[in-house]
Amino acid sequence: MSKEEEMERIEREIKNCKKCELWKTRNNPVIGEGTLNANIVFVGEAPGYNEDKQGKPFVGRAGKVFDELLAHIGLKREEIFITNVLKCRPPQNRNPLKNEISACTPYLDRQISIIRPRAIATLGSFALHYIFEKFGLKRETIGAVHGKSFDVFNLTGVRKIIPMYHPATATYNPETKNLLLKDFEVLKNICRRDA
Ligand code: URA
Ligand code: SF4
Repeated sequence: MSKEEEMERIEREIKNCKKCELWKTRNNPVIGEGTLNANIVFVGEAPGYNEDKQGKPFVGRAGKVFDELLAHIGLKREEIFITNVLKCRPPQNRNPLKNEISACTPYLDRQISIIRPRAIATLGSFALHYIFEKFGLKRETIGAVHGKSFDVFNLTGVRKIIPMYHPATATYNPETKNLLLKDFEVLKNICRRDA
């Protein structure tokens, strides 16, 4: 099966998924978007109001910040892949629950295995904690590790994990925006295949 076919299969499974209760309240699941040849996969938390309406990742206010951050390092959405820990929106954007994360993350794991990016950039603490655990890294707070690059060795081909603050925090905190801009510069060199 080609990468595209494998991703289409995942998409069909997610559209029919009832592994946790969130399918009942969602409008559209958000599978993820970008190129399957990405060097870097961004992992957010879960769809919000606008994402749930459109079925696309990071299209609301946090998405505007994300686009600015990408532009800051000269990248386009077509050059990366972006998805979330949860594929369906939690009601009122509440935090993901443990059982929802364990029900949903097999989809994320499969997406990562298909894309085999060089690096994963986590956006926010839910993605940080999930990805750190998956790759055998010690649990850390986002304040301690944001903007740092962590080397990992595993069969998925992923070499580096780079934790970032969630772009949504920058919509109400200008200081985090500056931190994010600086942290994103770490990604510049790993993002291009030919780099
Ligand atoms: N916040 C997220 O974590 N993901 C989205 O897709 C949108 C907002
Ligand atoms: Fe399935 Fe994930 Fe949606 Fe829960 S959040 S219903 S596990 S796709």
